[in-house]
Amino acid sequence: MRKPFYFSTGIFSALALLILAAGCSGAGSPPVVKIGCAAPLTGDQAQLGIDICNAVRLAVDEANARGEIIPGKKLEVLALDDQHNPAQAVNVAKKFVSDPAVVAVMGHFNSSCTKPASAVYHEARITSLTAAATNPDLSKQGFDTFFRVASTDDVQGPRAARYALHQLGIKSLFVIDDKTTYGKGLADEFKKEALKIGMTVLGHESITQGDKDFTPLLTRIKPLAPQMIYFGGVYPEGALLVRQARALGLAAAFMGGDGLASPIFSELASASIAEGTYATMVGGDMEKIPAAQGFIAAYKARFGQPGQWSAYGYDAANILMQAIHRAGSANREAVLKAMREIPAFTGITGEVSFDERGDNRNQFIGVFKFESGKLVYIGAAE
Ligand code: ALA
Repeated sequence: MRKPFYFSTGIFSALALLILAAGCSGAGSPPVVKIGCAAPLTGDQAQLGIDICNAVRLAVDEANARGEIIPGKKLEVLALDDQHNPAQAVNVAKKFVSDPAVVAVMGHFNSSCTKPASAVYHEARITSLTAAATNPDLSKQGFDTFFRVASTDDVQGPRAARYALHQLGIKSLFVIDDKTTYGKGLADEFKKEALKIGMTVLGHESITQGDKDFTPLLTRIKPLAPQMIYFGGVYPEGALLVRQARALGLAAAFMGGDGLASPIFSELASASIAEGTYATMVGGDMEKIPAAQGFIAAYKARFGQPGQWSAYGYDAANILMQAIHRAGSANREAVLKAMREIPAFTGITGEVSFDERGDNRNQFIGVFKFESGKLVYIGAAE
């Protein structure tokens, strides 16, 4: 009498386990399909993450209204705050992969966060697509789950150096980085090219993110009289550096990468101090791109002024949703396969197509200059 009982319990247990396993691997059909968005949402870089995750929300809500991604299912954005902290980024990544409804992740924003988190996504076989992390090594880890829309710093740094020499006539410079995966990587790429094309690099030093007083370093730099200071880092420290440099009477031109390309740099430094600072960016002037106007209007109506990164978040989210649609299900492996096979995508930032490493073949770098508190597009850097 006991055997059939155990037998039937065994069948039910096995069935329950199968159902659970299907859910855990994303192979089932959860009622809600979630796209993760991972970025700094609090702290001194929060605006950058909010600019991206808001755009992801907009893209997802528009797709839900059209009802076309997976008929009968609703997509949802699950935004988690990595605080631009690599350890927190790993926690966030683990939360995403343990939620069976999460089918793919947009993120992370910072290269220092994307690097450790990308290993978690790879292990879990879940697609991750970053709109903003630009360190070239991220796509060299052998992770077929990794994709990015942004151009990379081995393109951004050298083009910035050539722009500084050929367009601005800079011959001598001092390099500063913030020791992060992004900041150091970008500064090194800039310096390598600067030396190659005959510029004089008077020195290269590092600061620490979160520090506030850079006067001792700038005091050492001043007697060297560089024509330019190039900073590999993000706007909170960039704004302090330029303020403190000017306070010391250091008149060198100031240039950085996409980490400075935010109006917040000018707000923190003050418009008059930020005046004339150059920042390269992985794109051009969205305000002048006809295809971006609908997005800009919709974003403004809902969230206010979009940031420099918003359009990239929007395009990246639409690419992910196209992959989900092509997969025809919320199965993580199917979505990953669809991402690897996705044809060239024409978004509001231009054409995006992925190479075998998941990098965007379209590597555009624009140059911006702060003028009267505004980030003004100057042109492409070659
Ligand atoms: N491009 C910056 C990074 O990679 C945001 O961290």
